[in-house]
Amino acid sequence: MKTCKIHGEYKPQKICFGNSVLYSSCPKCADDYAKEEKKEKRRELLKRSGVPIRFENKGFDSFVTSNKKAEEIKLTMKKYADNFKGIKPHGTSLILSGNPGTGKTHLGCSIVLNLLDQGEMALYRSFYDIVAEMRNMFSSDEKDVLIIGKYLNVRLLILDEVGVQCSSDFEKDLLFRIINSRYENKRPTILLTNLNYGDLEKVIGQRIIDRFNEKKGGFYTFDWESYRK
Ligand SMILES: Nc1ncnc2c1ncn2[C@@H]1O[C@H](COP(=O)(O)OP(=O)(O)O)[C@@H](O)[C@H]1O
Ligand SMILES: [Mg+2]
Ligand SMILES: [Zn+2]
Repeated sequence: MKTCKIHGEYKPQKICFGNSVLYSSCPKCADDYAKEEKKEKRRELLKRSGVPIRFENKGFDSFVTSNKKAEEIKLTMKKYADNFKGIKPHGTSLILSGNPGTGKTHLGCSIVLNLLDQGEMALYRSFYDIVAEMRNMFSSDEKDVLIIGKYLNVRLLILDEVGVQCSSDFEKDLLFRIINSRYENKRPTILLTNLNYGDLEKVIGQRIIDRFNEKKGGFYTFDWESYRK
């Protein structure tokens, strides 16, 4: 028996390592260390995910539903996240549409947080942040590297506020390139918008919307009252 200063007595395992014999350290300490490492990795992923601080704790459990449709959408989003490993190769993409305050960003972030718990990386960005980021770049080479490196390679992209700042040719082209390059490489994207189907179609065009209606992806309408009211 050996004694750990924190956890008391434990029976060490004998580990033969070449000619030398080692004894394992306290298993509870090893557990604590592994847990801490896992937490640290999650914190790191969370920082890189772009989830706004206000939404860092907005998991599915915190999403309250007061009508059947909201409950169904919440369950569908949870299923999407829980089964992401199976969904990922198909590139199944979704559009969440509805008035401000209905919980689109909340559920979008719930998906990201759920994936982080699985050790999967997802990226949250509002479209106008990407527009601003692009405007700060000088050459189109730099822009291509960014679009391809960051917005194509991430496993899941949550693109929020689509429709806001999406009127110039530059913005429309940018949106199309991000969505299309992901589509062609079977990378799933979740698009969040305050626009309804008709208005979204006018702003981003049918050919982008079509990218989302394949492979059991789909269009989800959040047509209930704002949660803020
Ligand atoms: N069903 C809900 N249960 C709990 N909180 C909610 C719900 N819907 C919205 N909220 C909260 O209300 C605020 C606004 O929601 P948000 O997700 O930003 O709406 P949207 O993106 O549709 O405009 C957020 O703080 C969010 O967490
Ligand atoms: Mg929002
Ligand atoms: Zn110990």
